[in-house]
Order: sequence, then C-alpha cells, then structure tokens
Amino acid sequence: MTEAPKSAGTATLTYGDTSVELPVMAGSTGPNVIDIRKMYAATDAFTFDPGFTSTAACESALTYIDGDVGTLLHRGYPIDQLASKSSFLEVCHLLLHGELPTASEFAAFENIVTRHTMLHSQFDRFFEGFRRDAHPMAIMVGTVGALSAFYHDSLDIHDARQREISAIRLIAKMPTIAARAYKYHIGQPFVTPRNELSYSENFLRMCFAVPAEDYEVNPVLAKAMDRIFILHADHEQNASTSTVRLAGSSGANPFACIAAGIACLWGPSHGGANEEALNMLKEIGTPDKIPEFIEGVKAKKYKLMGFGHRVYKNYDPRAKVMKESADEVLAAVGDPNDPLFQVAKELERIALNDEYFIERKLFPNVDFYSGITLSAMGFPTSMFTVLFSLARTVGWIAQWQEMMADPSQKIGRPRQLYTGPTERDYVPIQQRG
Ligand code: SDX
Repeated sequence: MTEAPKSAGTATLTYGDTSVELPVMAGSTGPNVIDIRKMYAATDAFTFDPGFTSTAACESALTYIDGDVGTLLHRGYPIDQLASKSSFLEVCHLLLHGELPTASEFAAFENIVTRHTMLHSQFDRFFEGFRRDAHPMAIMVGTVGALSAFYHDSLDIHDARQREISAIRLIAKMPTIAARAYKYHIGQPFVTPRNELSYSENFLRMCFAVPAEDYEVNPVLAKAMDRIFILHADHEQNASTSTVRLAGSSGANPFACIAAGIACLWGPSHGGANEEALNMLKEIGTPDKIPEFIEGVKAKKYKLMGFGHRVYKNYDPRAKVMKESADEVLAAVGDPNDPLFQVAKELERIALNDEYFIERKLFPNVDFYSGITLSAMGFPTSMFTVLFSLARTVGWIAQWQEMMADPSQKIGRPRQLYTGPTERDYVPIQQRG
C-alpha cells in the first residue's frame, strides 16, 4: 500500500538575482518535501544542513514517526498495538513485505528463518581471535561483515531473490552471533540453535543454557524479549539506518552494510545509550542523589542518558511500552522494588516537571528503561546494544532492500561548505621558516 508522492505545488527560492521554482511533494502523511535536486545547477549554491535536521534523504514506506505527538507506525500499524498483539517475526514480515502475513505466510516465513539460524562451522573460529574482555559490540562489528565471506550465493545485490536470501540469513543468524558474542565474553561454551523453539526462546536459550543442565525458557522472559525486539525493529532514517543506506548506495554487499550499521549504532548518542543509561542510574544510586545529578545535567557536565531525541519532542511511544515491560519482568524474575527502577521512575518524574527539560522537550526515549529490563533478564550492560543491533537488523535490511529496489537509486555523495586554505604553491622545505 505504498503511495507515490503527489505534487503539492512549488516553492520559490530567490537567491541574488536568481529565482528558482522548486517542486514540493507530499507523501501519504507527514511533512511535505521541497525537491532541491536542481537547486545547485540553478544557483551554484549548496543547501547546508549538518546533522540533517531539515533534510529528507529518501522516500520510504516502512516507518512513520510523528515526533510532536509521539506516534510510531510500521507500515501504518501503531507500535503499541504491534508490541501487545504481534510477534517480532511477524513484524519482520510486515517490514520486509509491507503486510501482516496470513497464517500460512507466517508459517512459511518462520520456517525459513528457523532453518537459517545455524552458522558455518568455520565461522566460530572468528570469536577465538578476540580477547575475552572484548566488548561484545566489537565482536559484532568484527564478525557480521565476515558473513559476506561465507555466502557467495547471495551477494548479487541486483538479484531480488539473492537480496531476499541475504535478508533472511541476517535476521536468522544475528541471534546466533549475538549469543556467541556473549558466551565467548563470559567463557562459556556456545549453544546451538534449536528448531523447535521460537525466535526469542531460541535466543534466550543460546545465551543462558549451559551443557551441565537442561534449560527451560521462562515464557515471561521470552515474551518480554520478543516485545523488546519489536520496539527496536526499525525507526525511520536514524543514524545507523542512514549509514546502512549510504554504504548500500555504493553497491556494497548487505552483510558489509549491516556491519556499518552496527558500528554506527554503538555510539552513546544512539544505540549505546541503553548501556550508558543504566550506568547513569547505577551512578546516581538512590533517589536522594537525583537533585544533585540534575544540577550537573543543567550545568552541561553530562547528558541525561535515555532522554531526548532528534525527532520525538514528546514521550517516545516505545519508552511507555518498555516501562510496562520492566514492571512485568521485575515482578516475574527481579525485585518489584528494584532500586534502579525506583531511581529511574523518580528521575523521570522530576525531569518531566523541570523547566530545563520541558523547554528543551526532553522526554524518556526507548533507551531509558530498557537497561533495567535487560539487566533483570540476566544480560550484562555490555550486551544491551548488541540486543539493539539484533533487533534493528530487520529495519536496516528492509530499508536497504527498499533502496536497492528503487530503479532511480544512485550513490549518496553529499557536498560541503569549504573553509580551508585557497590554492597556494608548494614551498620546498629549505625555504620554510
Ligand atoms: C536512539 O534517531 C533515532 O531514531 C534513534 C533511535 C532509534 O530507534 O534509532 O530512536 C535510538 O538513538 C535514541 C536516543 C538515544 N540517545 C540518548 O539517550 C543519549 C542522550 N540524548 C542526547 O544525546 C540527544 O537527545 C540526542 C542525541 C538523542 C538528540 O540530540 P539532538 O536532536 O541533536 O538535540 P541537541 O543535542 O541539539 O539538544 C537540544 C538541547 C541542547 O541544549 P541547548 O544547547 O539548547 O542548551 O537539548 C539538550 C542539548 O544540550 N539535550 C540534553 C539531552 N538531549 C539534548 N540535555 C540533557 N540530556 C539530554 N539527554
């Protein structure tokens, strides 16, 4: 149900003695765009938008965010409905194919993903090359790109069938790689995926089972894991998705593009914030220390991690669901009065009533409560961004597929405002002062 952009009139740009008419296009909802593709030729000037705060880099039908209202839709379905009624694999099908699957379509999709969860036996040697104390994200960055060394039958990016196979392989194998990164980090043996388990059950078992005893997946944790994956699946043109698109625009293979996305996600301003947010809550420790911490934020000594967002100027709808998830998991396996959860809730209450945060429209984002939930589930903070990258793989590869299917796709190549030295002649070293 993709709608072609519609004309919404023109915008006139007057620059010096030049006036240029620029087409305006409307999508199915959200802000219109002013098409500036012919502006440089007409004015000999570039637009300037570091950080892309006012720039639409592409057309997409996957995810819509209304940051003012706090809306997040995947192919039109609200995130809170998907989180409460769908499953991660069903959301994967929705993002990849545009529609919720019928029962038979879902069975076929789940079957093919399940049967691609194993890794080539030689792949396991990569992990041995890392120090045991390597950050699991370093292992993810280092190994996911190496998948392109194993699947030569799905590297032709101009073949839609091979693009589809690569997408399935990535979605299926990321949990196996992520679990191996964790097991290697803690010095435990790798656990093979089991085909009778669901996607999230399989991942939890590969992370927490040990050969010395049987492992039963806790259904509350499996449901919470699956919901957390749904909340992280895709998010429009965020930094790591834009990285995947830019890498893919050169014709790089999908495994290499996803490795680039993982590298970008690792940053503390992006996917690394969930790890930093929990470390921040631990540093605050108790609710009575919150006022002093808030003063440090206002003095710009540090950021309130898990707060703020480039697009959301309202409550991140994912944070609401994540907060409910934290309640459920803590009630099931943790301490319902978990001190860090109490600190987080009090910190949110104080911040949402403080003018500094109100005027800057700073609200909790998806990373604010996720760490408390993941920690209660048994994951160390170093695994939080790994879990984010596991879930976001479907969004990255769906966005990559959307770009590769566009016949007008071309390599991304931004320009600049040059402020360096103008032309000057070389001076031999003997003549330099
Ligand atoms: C994700 O793009 C996506 O969709 C990302 C994501 C996804 O699903 O892909 O949603 C996932 O990355 C969520 C965001 C996780 N990051 C954090 O929680 C880190 C903390 N947040 C900030 O670093 C910040 O809010 C950003 C990076 C998320 C957004 O920054 P912007 O849009 O560039 O805003 P800004 O830095 O220009 O801030 C505007 C003002 C500034 O104050 P002034 O200079 O006007 O006085 O707000 C302040 C900032 O200092 N500010 C914060 C703050 N975030 C912004 N002050 C304190 N704490 C914060 N968290």
